[in-house]
Amino acid sequence: MRQPEHPIEPLILNRWSPRAMSGESLTDEELMPLFEAARWAPSSFNAQPWRFIFAKRETSHWKPLFDLLVEFNQSWATAAAALVLIISHKVFEHNGNPSATHSFDAGAAWENLALEGFARGLVIHGMQGFDYEKAKIICNIPDDFQVEAMVAIGKAGKKEDLSVEAQKKESPSVRKPLSEIIMEGKYQ
Ligand SMILES: Cc1cc2nc3c(=O)[nH]c(=O)nc-3n(C[C@H](O)[C@H](O)[C@H](O)COP(=O)(O)O)c2cc1C
Repeated sequence: MRQPEHPIEPLILNRWSPRAMSGESLTDEELMPLFEAARWAPSSFNAQPWRFIFAKRETSHWKPLFDLLVEFNQSWATAAAALVLIISHKVFEHNGNPSATHSFDAGAAWENLALEGFARGLVIHGMQGFDYEKAKIICNIPDDFQVEAMVAIGKAGKKEDLSVEAQKKESPSVRKPLSEIIMEGKYQ
């Protein structure tokens, strides 16, 4: 059981990233609300620099994205219903100037997606273990976009079906104490 130092919204405290998924598909009615949640994230100048390239398992888009994953991620993400590549626009659309916060903003959108999915009982698991350079090529990403992360989404499955290595990780993790991450006034 996770223990907060101060009481917070249970959804924020309880969200975690399982890896056990059932291999079942997701309908658009199940998948689209997650992007809807992401869409309402705040961003600098309301520029909404996030973009989501998704591939459902039963389509021809799945294999090219799946093949980008490192072996460990493939071992469990093979039972996901969808993979989502998150990219962000490095420049502002309104003036072409570089954005200092495109990744930060995309991160906010990702957390909205994760919270919405968790609230709906889905497995939502972020991944950096994939080939970023190849992702740019196979997904036709324009140069002014940055590849941020991949997400595996699926229906919950059985822990026993995971590899031994993944089973060992299959529980909610803890966090650094607040005293380690907050500083008053200046860095210390
Ligand atoms: C951007 C990002 C990249 C991640 N990359 C991977 C990954 O490649 N493989 C993996 O198994 N887990 C990955 N994770 C999952 C993290 O290890 C996990 O979110 C972290 O340990 C905190 O646990 P929790 O999400 O269950 O609270 C990633 C998470 C995020 C947010």
